[in-house]
Amino acid sequence: MDEQKENDVIVEVHNLVKVFKDFWQRPKVRAVDGLDLEIRRGEIFGLLGPNGSGKSTTIKILLGLLHATSGNVLVFNRSPRDVEIKARIGYLPEESYLYNYLSPCETLNFYGRLFDLKNSVRKERIWQLLEMTGLTHAANRSVGEFSKGMARRVGLAQALINDPELVILDEPTSGLDPVGCRQVKDLMLTLAKRGKTIILSSHLLADVEDVCDRIAILYNGSIKALGSVNQLLEKQESVRFTMPSLSPDVMKKVLELIREKIGKEPEVDHPSMNLEQFFLEVVEKAHKATSQQSGVAPTERMADYLLIKDK
Ligand SMILES: Nc1ncnc2c1ncn2[C@@H]1O[C@H](COP(=O)(O)OP(=O)(O)O)[C@@H](O)[C@H]1O
Ligand SMILES: [Mg+2]
Repeated sequence: MDEQKENDVIVEVHNLVKVFKDFWQRPKVRAVDGLDLEIRRGEIFGLLGPNGSGKSTTIKILLGLLHATSGNVLVFNRSPRDVEIKARIGYLPEESYLYNYLSPCETLNFYGRLFDLKNSVRKERIWQLLEMTGLTHAANRSVGEFSKGMARRVGLAQALINDPELVILDEPTSGLDPVGCRQVKDLMLTLAKRGKTIILSSHLLADVEDVCDRIAILYNGSIKALGSVNQLLEKQESVRFTMPSLSPDVMKKVLELIREKIGKEPEVDHPSMNLEQFFLEVVEKAHKATSQQSGVAPTERMADYLLIKDK
C-alpha cells in the first residue's frame, strides 16, 4: 500500500504555514497560510499567483531550503530535508545564481560533479544539454556576458543534469524570448510524457495554460482556485463549431436554424491563431531566409538521456 503510494503521490502538503519573523522574532509576513496540495507522478502542476503570493516560499519548503512554521510536507514520501531525495530533484531558482566567470560547459561540469556523475556520463549529458538549450556555440564563453535569456537556459540545463524525477522550475520563462518560452514549454511537455513530475511557478498565464495539467492559484499564501486547467476554464454553457468556410446560402440556412432554436443571434467569427503561434511562424520564416544566426539557435533537439522513460 505504502509502496503504491510512493509511486503515485510525489508531493504531499497538508496545512502548510510559513511565517517570516523580523529581527526581533516578531511575526512579520504570513507567506504561506494553510496550504494543501497533492502532486502526482507525471503531472505538470502550475503554481500561479501574483508577486508575493507565496509561490517561491512554497517551493523552497518543498526543497528543504526553508523550514515550515507548521504543517506537514512529504516529497517522495520523505521529509524535504532528507538528503537521499536531493538527487531525484532538479531545481531552477527564480534568480539563477550562476558563477559569472564560468562557461556553460564548466557550470554543468561543476553540477555534474556535485551529483557524482561518472566522467563519461557527465560529458555526454553536458553536450546534449547544451545542444538542447541552443548554447553549443556559446559553450565556452563566460556566463557573466550572457543575456538574461541565455543565463536562464544555462540554469535550466543545470536543473536537468542529474536526470531528475521531479523538476521544480521557478519562473522558468522569465527573461526568455517567445521562441525560448515555446522551447521551455515543449521541454516540460516532453519531460512529463517521460514520466517526470514538474512543478512550475509562474505569473505568466499563457505559459501555464499551455502546459499545466492542474493549477493552483495562490493569493496571500492560500489557494483560491485548484483544479485541472480544462475544468477551470471550460464554459460548459456554450459550444463552438470549427469548419471550413460555408457558402453564403448554406451559411444563411444554418444561421436561420440556430436563430430559431436559441431565439437570438449566435456569435460567428473566424478563428484566429494566438500571438505566440503567429510570432513563431514569422521568426521561423525569417530564420529560414537567413543563414546568419544571432543569439541562440531556434531549433534544438531534446537531450537523448532525458528521453529514456523512468521505470
Ligand atoms: N526571506 C524572507 N524574509 C521575509 N519575508 C519574506 C522572505 N521571503 C519571502 N518573503 C515574503 O513572503 C511573501 C511571499 O513571497 P514569495 O514566496 O517570494 O512570493 P512569490 O514567489 O509568489 O512572488 C512576500 O510578502 C515576501 O515579501
Ligand atoms: Mg517567486
